[in-house]
Amino acid sequence: MTDKQRIFSGIQPSGLATLGNYLGAIRNWVALQDGHDCIYCVVDLHAITEWQDPAELQRQTREMTATLLACGIDPGKHILFLQSSVRAHAQLAWIFNCVARLGWLNRMTQFKDKAGKDREGASAGLYVYPNLMAADILAYHATRVPVGEDQRQHLELANDIAQKFNHDYGVDFFPTIEALITGPVPRVMSLRDGTKKMSKSDPSDQSRINLNDDADTIALKIRRAKTDPEALPSEPMGLANRPEARNLVGIYAAMDATDAAAVLRQHGGKGFGPFKEALAALLVAKLTPIARETDRLLADPAGVDAVLREGAERAAAIANPIVAEAERLVGFLRV
Ligand code: TYM
Repeated sequence: MTDKQRIFSGIQPSGLATLGNYLGAIRNWVALQDGHDCIYCVVDLHAITEWQDPAELQRQTREMTATLLACGIDPGKHILFLQSSVRAHAQLAWIFNCVARLGWLNRMTQFKDKAGKDREGASAGLYVYPNLMAADILAYHATRVPVGEDQRQHLELANDIAQKFNHDYGVDFFPTIEALITGPVPRVMSLRDGTKKMSKSDPSDQSRINLNDDADTIALKIRRAKTDPEALPSEPMGLANRPEARNLVGIYAAMDATDAAAVLRQHGGKGFGPFKEALAALLVAKLTPIARETDRLLADPAGVDAVLREGAERAAAIANPIVAEAERLVGFLRV
């Protein structure tokens, strides 16, 4: 046993990893490997809450795994696995479906966003999605969860579920979860609309940078990114009410490991043209090595699969006894 706090986080293989995933989550996941026991999960059960073509889902699952490895997730020291391979997630999620209240789920803004106007046509899975997320984390008694800002509400719900379970069954079984929303850009916005989150499921590929975009694609997307007609301000205060400018400056600062003030000292007062050229060059320099390494790993699909297989064994060894105990507490007879 170690007294290190256990970290858990997940990412959906519902598309290619984006710059939003990278700056909001993956970069932190990599950093947290120093000094913590980390469990990182490719969440395919979550992905099918919205339609996924089966062949594409398989391809994207491998690609997401390879991307995480290319970013620096180390399966030698930590656990990287596929959610559907460890049955304990779905088993605990069912119990949590019976603990969480409809009223709690009705408040989830992500469900409202994703279901859109056609609420009646959304899957029941999309509705109970946060309960499965709570199960992902609590099946490991993980206490720290590095995510982007958009997941904050789901983690608050996970704590409500843990508390209600403990209260209803008169135990102190599930721990409190702490959200680690400490990425340099907790919410990276769309390149086409500075008020919308950058998302791998946005219909427009121009709205995002994918981690496997080549240099020309990155340059073109940044050149076409929406901006306003003003020059860049020389201080961060001047970014207020300029969501597109704030987003691009934030991305630049995060990629260059500096802050908005430093970026604006260098680029303030100039138009977006030269700034976009500099930003594209920075993104190409930092992201194309990740894309190259992802391609190298994908040339050996069996190698990627082996990482997931071994990860699932180690994950199950932790989750199975915890979920078995939850089932015992609920009163399931074991014969
Ligand atoms: P997902 O796949 O949408 O995103 C994975 C991670 O990337 C972060 N992220 C962003 N951060 C900043 N700016 C953005 N534009 C942006 N887009 C995505 C997300 O906050 C997330 O941290 N429900 C989760 C996956 C999940 C999970 C879990 C996470 C399932 N079980 C248990 C933590 C713990 C999701 O859909 O992430």
